[in-house]
Amino acid sequence: MKQLAIFVSGRGSNFREIHAAAKSGDIPANVALVVTDKIQCPAADYARDEGIEVVHYPAPNVGPPALLRALEQADIDYIVLAGYLKLVPSEVVQAFPQAMLNIHPALLPAFGGKGYYGRRVHEAVIASGAKVSGVSVHFVDEEYDHGPIVAQVVVSVQPDDTPDTLAKRVLKQEHKLYSRVVAALCRGEVHWREDGVPYVEPPIMLQDITK
Ligand code: GRF
Repeated sequence: MKQLAIFVSGRGSNFREIHAAAKSGDIPANVALVVTDKIQCPAADYARDEGIEVVHYPAPNVGPPALLRALEQADIDYIVLAGYLKLVPSEVVQAFPQAMLNIHPALLPAFGGKGYYGRRVHEAVIASGAKVSGVSVHFVDEEYDHGPIVAQVVVSVQPDDTPDTLAKRVLKQEHKLYSRVVAALCRGEVHWREDGVPYVEPPIMLQDITK
């Protein structure tokens, strides 16, 4: 059984989906640890209610070495960023090669990077006139929203969309795609091309997700 650490900063809806999928067996893993920069956020409250250990990072007495120790002590195999707003320290990125995922509510490499989070992503998509947006799941490197993309789903942008209506349509797909990709990673179904591009095989059936 793989051990997961989920990093959160806010609402935690992707975290709750992944936790539910782990509990039901759809993801062959256990959520062993939650890491948050906001110790009182709804996601951290949920983790405590569920009896999951919560680590506050960054915190006055918790720097990268303490975070690494906590991850090692919990025997973490994979890190799943789910709305975590801080940059992951390079020590941790390097300790988890090909083992840390992030989800972004747009089609990377567009509309990503520092400052593109939450509502701002959807505002920028609508302002650009783009007719499609979507969800990207990618491996994490030392830059925001930058590592290699492993899976994406397209979501239409409607002429009368507001950031909130678009966010809602995208979030529905986030919940489905992220659980599938985390499950694939835990099952050993994520592979790497020689040029460093990851892919899922057998592929995730996107038509099952988008219907
Ligand atoms: C999601 O839109 C995710 O793509 C982005 O942050 C948001 C987190 O939402 N990285 P939640 O905390 O999972 O509800």
